[in-house]
Amino acid sequence: MSYKQTEFWIVDKFWEYEKQRQFIKDAALWIKKGEVVAFPTETVYGLGANALEEAAVKKIFEAKGRPSDNPLIVHIADTSQLSELVEEVPQVAQQLIKHFWPGPLTIILKKKQSVAESVTAGLDTVAVRMPNHPVALELLRDAGVPVAAPSANLSGKPSPTSGEHVYHDLQGRIAAILDGGQTGVGLESTVLDCTKDVPVLYRPGGATITEIEAIVGPIKVDPSLISKEEIPMSPGMKYTHYSPNGSFVLVQDQKKLVRLLAEAKASGKRTGVLTTEENRDKYEADVVVSCGKRDDLRSVANHLYESLRKFDLEEAEIIFSETFPNEELGIAIMNRLEKAAGGQIL
Ligand code: TXA
Ligand code: MG
Repeated sequence: MSYKQTEFWIVDKFWEYEKQRQFIKDAALWIKKGEVVAFPTETVYGLGANALEEAAVKKIFEAKGRPSDNPLIVHIADTSQLSELVEEVPQVAQQLIKHFWPGPLTIILKKKQSVAESVTAGLDTVAVRMPNHPVALELLRDAGVPVAAPSANLSGKPSPTSGEHVYHDLQGRIAAILDGGQTGVGLESTVLDCTKDVPVLYRPGGATITEIEAIVGPIKVDPSLISKEEIPMSPGMKYTHYSPNGSFVLVQDQKKLVRLLAEAKASGKRTGVLTTEENRDKYEADVVVSCGKRDDLRSVANHLYESLRKFDLEEAEIIFSETFPNEELGIAIMNRLEKAAGGQIL
């Protein structure tokens, strides 16, 4: 379905509370009527539809151009909604929920029949999370149903961290966008399978392994996150993602990066570099984008996708990127950068 006009509602001005309250109610009404709307969460923007209605969920896949074998995360506002979605909540999951929700941890559990088939892409499990964002929670409460929502970008593009990003990708393809300003974490939630004896990490994200292990002890990591030879347990992790239009290459060594940039420039290409505040003066490139401070990886996570999008706006043809330490939030940052680079690291 195409929409002549996608409603664009700004909801981050506290002095316009009543008006914004109405926008959120209107968005919830769209969801109740089986349409899709984009909304802010603490991680990235989501594209939501009623998770119990097959036809509504299908519209999400259509709007994004998402492969149908890639399951969605179901968003809830209250833990009491879990009983509509899953058979049981094992004890580890209960501990994690108590500690992390609302927040950037998605938990995979055994699903109930009521969940629309296309939400789970035919799997017998369902991914669930409670977002930590006032607009998302209000929308979920008003809608009164669990809401399936992937990130609100066109499939393959960086996830949206502002209402403008969503508008750029999906205007004319969805009913409405709730613009709550820039998101906080900036990377997607951590996805953890809690149907096994020991929880398994499928996607690193806003909640770090250290934080999770502090609550439930040692967890396992999907082997595909360590070796490129393995097939990911989580269908979405096998797709290339987040890529700018130009070619995108990760370079570990700074001297090498400087040399590669000079070579690319000499060959007449429009060059880009993804760097950090500490290093931004060290490079000669047509498009220099700093994604944050190295000594504050939260700032890097927060600006990463916005930074990747800038290379397209500035039409960079070849982009070299710095790398980050593979620890704490750096694990999620490197996971996204490696995907953007299609695994290419020099
Ligand atoms: O932060 C987030 O998680 C954002 C916001 C909007 O909540 N959502 C998000 O959704 O990132 P999406 O669709 O872009 O990513 C969902 C990931 C995919 O990699 C998908 O394959 C995986 O979760 N997933 C969903 N259900 C699953 C299941 N039952 N088993 C394994 N993986 C699953
Ligand atoms: Mg996504």
